[in-house]
Amino acid sequence: MTYSIEKLVYHLRGLYSAPIICELSKRKIFKFIKNKAIFDKKKLINIKSKKELEACLSYLVRINLLKKLDNDELEFTDMGVEIFKRANSYYVPHSYRDYILNLGNIFNSKMNVKKLKVDRNENIIGSGLTHMRYFPPVISYLSQNNSFHAGIDVGCGNGHFLNLLNDNFQSLDLYGFDVSNTSVKSAKLIKKKNRNNIKIFRADASKINYWKKKINIKGKKTIFFFWFLLHEISKNKKSIIIDYLKSIKKNFPNSTIVICELTKQSDIILQENCEKSLMPEYLLFHDFSGQGVLGFSDYKEILKKTGYTLKKEWMFDQSPPNKDINSEPSTFVWVLE
Ligand SMILES: C[S@@+](CC[C@H](N)C(=O)[O-])C[C@H]1O[C@@H](n2cnc3c(N)ncnc32)[C@H](O)[C@@H]1O
Repeated sequence: MTYSIEKLVYHLRGLYSAPIICELSKRKIFKFIKNKAIFDKKKLINIKSKKELEACLSYLVRINLLKKLDNDELEFTDMGVEIFKRANSYYVPHSYRDYILNLGNIFNSKMNVKKLKVDRNENIIGSGLTHMRYFPPVISYLSQNNSFHAGIDVGCGNGHFLNLLNDNFQSLDLYGFDVSNTSVKSAKLIKKKNRNNIKIFRADASKINYWKKKINIKGKKTIFFFWFLLHEISKNKKSIIIDYLKSIKKNFPNSTIVICELTKQSDIILQENCEKSLMPEYLLFHDFSGQGVLGFSDYKEILKKTGYTLKKEWMFDQSPPNKDINSEPSTFVWVLE
């Protein structure tokens, strides 16, 4: 990567543009009707600070994401369409903004990182939408291999995956739990339109003896899902995940489990891809918030020690793309038995 004046601008622009894109996108100003992007002005009516809103819209015109028409109406530019179409991929990094905006205070020890809060609502919406990329292959795999009576989503977030299970399978007993009250509250909303028997509750995934009592799976063929949960409990130690999965196996010996995790790719891979990947930002906020993202080779080592067998694997954003031995995915999904 060579230096150019554009790079100088690019390193600053996101600080201003990303929050504006997130806030407008969450208010749904962008919509697609008959393949045409619409700037839906009505969605901004409730914004009280008109002056600041106008300033933000003018800024987006000046950086070529919006265009002003002769009648003073706004529309998205081609670039604006592409950015706003994918704006939900900004939500998760943006939900951790307090960490990065308080860096001065953190460096001076005036602020304790542990006390900073992630914007839980934005994080939940963002994770749910971002993770929708990883769910469909598993749903179609299960459609072909479904002999299950019960599905349990451990760390279920906003319940997006439970919702998909509910839409795609009939007569499955579904359970979802999460340690966060906000997640539990939003996952409970999916119960309103369910076909299956769904139970959602609050529990810490590490306390197996506690949540085990809340699921009734005796004699039922069961599948457990751990979507992006393991890095939340790993404390950066492989041994914690090995012990945890061994414990899951011991408690539910005949069950299938699905694991999906993002990985800590090597710096060389991250550097090569840094202009087209958000992984450096993802790894940064995970480091700040004390979540332990492990490497793909760590997970392969973990697998060998858990007693599980790999039945199916999907790898995303493999780099280098040819499957040479140094290739690492940014995210992987395993079905284990
Ligand atoms: C990255 S989000 C993933 C959410 C959801 N599984 C998905 O893929 O969309 C991680 C979730 O794990 C939850 N979580 C973190 N630690 C947990 C724990 N010890 N027990 C249960 N849930 C936990 C968080 O509250 C959050 O909802």
